[in-house]
Amino acid sequence: MAHAQPPSFWWDTPARLLENHLPATLTAAGLLAVLGLIAFHLAVVNTRRTRQAAALRATKARLQAVLAAMPDAAFVLDDSGRVVEVLNDASTLFTLPASVSPPPGAPLGQGRFLEELLPLPCARLLSGAARAAMGISTGADAVQEVVFSLRGAWFEARVAPLRHAPNGGRDEAVCVIRDITTRKELQRSLQAATREAEAMNVRLKELDQLKTELLSAVSQEIRTPLTSVFGFVVLVRKELQRRLLPVIREAATRRPPGDAAAIDAAASRILDNLRIVQEEGARLGRLVDDLLDLSNIEAGKSEWRDEVITLAGVVEKSVASLASQIADRTRVTLQVDLAPTLPPLLMDRDRLQQVVVHLLDNALKVTEEGPVRIIGRLTETGAVELAVEDAGPGIPAADLHRIFEKFQHAPGDEGIRRAHKGSGLGLAICRNIVRHYGGDIRAVSPPGPGRTGARFVVRLPPAPMVAEGGSRQ
Ligand SMILES: Nc1ncnc2c1ncn2[C@@H]1O[C@H](COP(=O)(O)OP(=O)(O)OP(=O)(O)O)[C@@H](O)[C@H]1O
Ligand SMILES: [Mg+2]
Repeated sequence: MAHAQPPSFWWDTPARLLENHLPATLTAAGLLAVLGLIAFHLAVVNTRRTRQAAALRATKARLQAVLAAMPDAAFVLDDSGRVVEVLNDASTLFTLPASVSPPPGAPLGQGRFLEELLPLPCARLLSGAARAAMGISTGADAVQEVVFSLRGAWFEARVAPLRHAPNGGRDEAVCVIRDITTRKELQRSLQAATREAEAMNVRLKELDQLKTELLSAVSQEIRTPLTSVFGFVVLVRKELQRRLLPVIREAATRRPPGDAAAIDAAASRILDNLRIVQEEGARLGRLVDDLLDLSNIEAGKSEWRDEVITLAGVVEKSVASLASQIADRTRVTLQVDLAPTLPPLLMDRDRLQQVVVHLLDNALKVTEEGPVRIIGRLTETGAVELAVEDAGPGIPAADLHRIFEKFQHAPGDEGIRRAHKGSGLGLAICRNIVRHYGGDIRAVSPPGPGRTGARFVVRLPPAPMVAEGGSRQ
């Protein structure tokens, strides 16, 4: 009997056996043989089934062990909100009224409606999520997530539709519920801490603003009397030196020798003290000017006289303005290394000079010996980069950002600060100027591998191109 598929006589199903191998006329012996084969076949199928059932039981046991090891409660719900099967202990969630006793050996909740096991709002929330997961309420099945609180704890439920459910064709969904109380509490304290930090930040900004306004007001008040005090000190010193001292010294020569020496020493002391008053007055004047400058920039009251300038021109002027300071530092070598084809900048020339002078002044202050370098280059993004490098003590990593705030000094340089008497406003002014032009400024320390000192890097956008006809692009 011809057949498309070559039959395997021993393993074919009984129906195919009969179809393929039963001759048209069957003898009793032939029939017996066929029956024997059918019996054999059934025995083989039976053995297979037994093995498959054992494998299934083993898989189920493994899954149950995995579930039991998980902290989540898990159960299957049908479309009427009944717990069809409890997959993993849900006794932390479910409670039965005292009058109802669960069937012995059955897990708590099995066969019960959610309304019997949970407070009504929770039960409704979960069965609603189950219906949505089954696609009953939404039209399309999908995993649902709901969060609810129960007896002071927080739970997160994930509800997924169960396809091919054996429950008489009824829709079912599996519901996995996790206790997220700790996570919620952490979230809450994090939110509270964030809110507190934000409020603190606002308060700090207000205080900072207040401080700036106060300093600005005080500076304005101080400026006029300070200018006249300073002016008079200079005048008094000059008069004393030119006119009075020669007279006093001459008169002293007519006194006994001890007196003359004492008078001369006293006069020199007075002169010296006046010099200190003059120097400190000048420093106070610079501080007041810086404060007013900074508060004007911050308040948007500064005038910006923008023009197209080159970095090279500004660097040249800045170096010239610090010529005497550079000459004083005999063990310091100044190196200027500017790329020859830098694009121009659209900025207030004096403001950019202020930045370069401030950075160079700082570098000279901190470098006892070695190179101070000014480097200008074009970055990959087309910005103009100015870097000022020194061979000073460097800046601790923790202070690299802080030093750009008002009145902030790096802690390690008390000696330097005392020697150079800085007020801590220079970098704050630089940052305001650079930011006004959409640039940025940062400090790096050490400036490179195997080097010491600090490097201040300023990046500025180039001037927009001027198209034919004069309009900027
Ligand atoms: N090149 C540098 N190397 C090491 N520390 C630096 C350098 N430049 C600045 N600093 C640190 O940053 C602080 C702030 O600098 P900033 O220029 O703002 O103030 P200042 O130089 O102290 O005073 P001034 O207002 O006169 O400029 C300095 O006091 C110093 O501690
Ligand atoms: Mg400075």
